Amino acid sequence: MSGRLPEDALDRLIDAAAEARLRAYAPYSHFFVGAALLLQDGAIVTGANVENASYGLTICAERTAIFAAIAAGHRRFRMMAVVTAAPTLTSPCGACRQVIREFSPDLTILLASTDGRRRAVSLAELLPESFGPESLLSGD
Ligand code: THU
Repeated sequence: MSGRLPEDALDRLIDAAAEARLRAYAPYSHFFVGAALLLQDGAIVTGANVENASYGLTICAERTAIFAAIAAGHRRFRMMAVVTAAPTLTSPCGACRQVIREFSPDLTILLASTDGRRRAVSLAELLPESFGPESLLSGD
């Protein structure tokens, strides 16, 4: 489904996101999300959503994964998988799209469900005409 990686690598990434989803802390929404980032060296970093009694402090699975990877010293990503049990495949929220864009404007994201459905989208499709680090180059 994604020409650049073999199917078993995609399966492994989705499995890692599904496993991370089981660690989500979502007592308020009961919407459990797992994310997994494939690094350049083939390693995988995962994340899950972490909610808070002060609702606005909630962080999504995608940003948890990105921040964990950055904190561990990784800045180049090959692919991300996002897994939920929702009837419609879950696509990253606007805030997460912008955070992903900072590091990987061309990232492929696998949207997957616990029942086996999956679809690949690119960040460029999700966030066209985006703002990024190079947009700050004023030229003056
Ligand atoms: N959530 C994510 O973790 N990722 C998404 O792509 C969409 C939303 C979380 C945030 C919150 O904990 C719950 O899902 C409901 O919005």
